[in-house]
Amino acid sequence: MVKIAPSILSADILRLESEISAIERAGADIIHIDIMDGHFVPNLTYGPKLVKAVRDISKLPLDIHLMIENPQVFIDRFAAAGADNITVHAEVTVPIPQLYEITKKFDISFGVSIKPDTPLDTITDYMELIDILLIMTVHPGFGGQEFIDSTLPKIAEARELRAKYSYAYEIEVDGGINATTVKKAVSSGATLIVAGNYIFKSGDYKKAIESLRG
Ligand code: DX5
Ligand code: ZN
Repeated sequence: MVKIAPSILSADILRLESEISAIERAGADIIHIDIMDGHFVPNLTYGPKLVKAVRDISKLPLDIHLMIENPQVFIDRFAAAGADNITVHAEVTVPIPQLYEITKKFDISFGVSIKPDTPLDTITDYMELIDILLIMTVHPGFGGQEFIDSTLPKIAEARELRAKYSYAYEIEVDGGINATTVKKAVSSGATLIVAGNYIFKSGDYKKAIESLRG
């Protein structure tokens, strides 16, 4: 069964504690937290303090998606704040093995993400290091955008490579996921599903999460 990770980017931030309890009751598997620095993406969000605050009120695994230019500076702090997974972007200048080393000083998993226009080739040399391969299905930076269909072959390719070389990574998708687009992503190979707007704007979180499980 696929795992569902609501993205709190679309939650009511002034009621974050009750929003988190609501998605827990609704059956969420993981909490996805988007960190943006205004450089790597044209938007700003949260820091380690918010992650720590969420850690203090929830037992769900925290999936931290770093859309930041200098992840090497911040991985330690997000790990200390309570991250269970830290995902960095392959497009940053710091080499992936270096980011892997920093992350694995902590007992947490390591994710690598690629933007819709980044080919899978850019990370094939590092696939053994990756616990979660996040294939962005929108251009990162904002919730509520439309799913980009041209990312589907990359999801399928990631699945093929995993089978061929016995890699262990989960295939995560993020952006524009709803009850229709999730079917395309899952049939291509996605195993971990992020959804922001679709869940938090739904009015019935349980029903929305169930509909994503197919
Ligand atoms: C976008 C973020 C996503 C975002 C998804 O850059 O990485 O996690 O919250 O939002 P939806 O599901 O609304 O596209
Ligand atoms: Zn995200």
